[in-house]
Amino acid sequence: MEVKIRKIIREEDIHDAIKKIARRIESDYKDEEVLLVGILKGSFVFLSHLILELKIQHQVDFIGISSYGKSTKSTGVVRVLFDMQTSPVGKNIVVVDDIVDTGLTLDYLKRNLLTRNPKSLKFCVLFDKKENRLIPFEPDYTGIVVPNKFLVGFGMDYKEYYRGLPFVGVLEE
Ligand code: IMP
Ligand code: MG
Repeated sequence: MEVKIRKIIREEDIHDAIKKIARRIESDYKDEEVLLVGILKGSFVFLSHLILELKIQHQVDFIGISSYGKSTKSTGVVRVLFDMQTSPVGKNIVVVDDIVDTGLTLDYLKRNLLTRNPKSLKFCVLFDKKENRLIPFEPDYTGIVVPNKFLVGFGMDYKEYYRGLPFVGVLEE
């Protein structure tokens, strides 16, 4: 497979965006604890950098989600593959994902988690493909707004490859 990757977001801009998000979360929760819930698999690189920055008490958990048939296009069908292990009841939950695109995944999770009586529920994404929403969804914390192109790197994959790129690139076949 011969693919070219064109860098569109630099490492330093990603790290600046993560620091800004961490400062905003710290000021929103001050002396409260948060439970950060990463959506696998795309969130794990962002989440690991975020917690190294975050100076408030926090717990970490994950939810495994599948959207069937997704390679470069969303199918819109969302399903929980495995659930978080920590109880969400009474917790300040911040759901963390790499990117919000159509909005279907986070909208589904919002409806799902709200039925489970958290103390509060917010959504945090590193990248936002604002132009591509199929459903209105506004994350509480957004790092960088990105163009409506298929991106790889910093956790984002193409067929499970390229998650480890330290920058964000566009696939050019
Ligand atoms: P949504 O439900 O369409 O908002 O899709 C969100 C999920 O799709 C994210 O958690 C990503 O895993 C994945 N995704 C969306 N856009 C991209 C992309 O450009 N590259 C890689 N994965 C993406
Ligand atoms: Mg994902």
